[in-house]
Amino acid sequence: MSYPLVRLRRLRENPKLRRFVSEHKLFKKDLAQPIFVKEGIPGRVAVASMPGQFQFSEAEAVEEAKKILDLGVPAVILFGIPSKKDARGFEAFAKKGIIQRAVAKIKKSAPGLLVITDVCLCEYLTHGHCGHVRKGRVLNDSSVATLARVALSHAEAGADVVAPSDMMDGRVLAIRRLLDRRGFEHLPVMSYAVKYASSFYAPFRDAAESAPGFGDRSGYQMDPANAREAFREVEADLAEGADLLLVKPALGYGDVIRRVVEKFSCPVGCYSVSGEYSMIKAAAERGWVDEKKTVLETHLSMKRAGAAFIVSYWAKDIARWETGGGIS
Ligand code: PBG
Repeated sequence: MSYPLVRLRRLRENPKLRRFVSEHKLFKKDLAQPIFVKEGIPGRVAVASMPGQFQFSEAEAVEEAKKILDLGVPAVILFGIPSKKDARGFEAFAKKGIIQRAVAKIKKSAPGLLVITDVCLCEYLTHGHCGHVRKGRVLNDSSVATLARVALSHAEAGADVVAPSDMMDGRVLAIRRLLDRRGFEHLPVMSYAVKYASSFYAPFRDAAESAPGFGDRSGYQMDPANAREAFREVEADLAEGADLLLVKPALGYGDVIRRVVEKFSCPVGCYSVSGEYSMIKAAAERGWVDEKKTVLETHLSMKRAGAAFIVSYWAKDIARWETGGGIS
């Protein structure tokens, strides 16, 4: 059958029918909002390269978390910015570190919120790499040992899920083993399993004060030229005990999300990263695109690709836009 019997526009012209047959929707229940918590600041500081995003003091982070939950966003992912950095990342697993304190307070004030913590060293190391550095090399195994201590400290502070984003080999296993040994065998690990060395992270490094002081991250994050390598990353992390996975960035990586979702049966989410946010914000500020429509379109593309959940800087906004029953 073909035209003139077939007319695809018949399903499009009437908005009621168009909505009735739409395949995908965004739900606030699938979203997580990132929060940056900074030690030693009095209130909140705007992130210049991410209009509408802030570094929050501990107290402000608690207020923000409550607001997020009130809007119906079920989850947050926390990033910490310590007041002092060193060569080993001691503050990352300090009992009274910024994240450990923030997690405990948020869990107390907003017990209904799912608190995920980003587990990495880049914010805590003087050189800004995601692992220890010796003679210009990012060391794998010593970094992994520290990352496990970081994850444990988050668990002890009350985190619901720990999310390693460093891309060292074997970190999920080290984290899983230490958590299990210390009575946290029930605590899920969300692995940033498929994390590319992306230029889209640049504004985040402003927000988290974690830009590498030399070189870049392509010695440990994935090459954007590769898709099949994602399978090896996922296989490794699942074998090490990861429970759920992230693909990152999201925009431009729909093919990878789709392929991972089709091949593996664990929940797969994606992270719509800082550069995706800033790009649309900047264009919208100039009136070149409509922010809401563009955001719904990019986030729907992530659902279409198969993402079960989305970490997004627009989580709060989407929750405001979605008045129930999903939005498309
Ligand atoms: C920490 C980390 C990064 C992001 C999440 N966790 C930065 C990086 O790898 O350089 C990026 C998030 C974003 O751009 O929004 N390693």
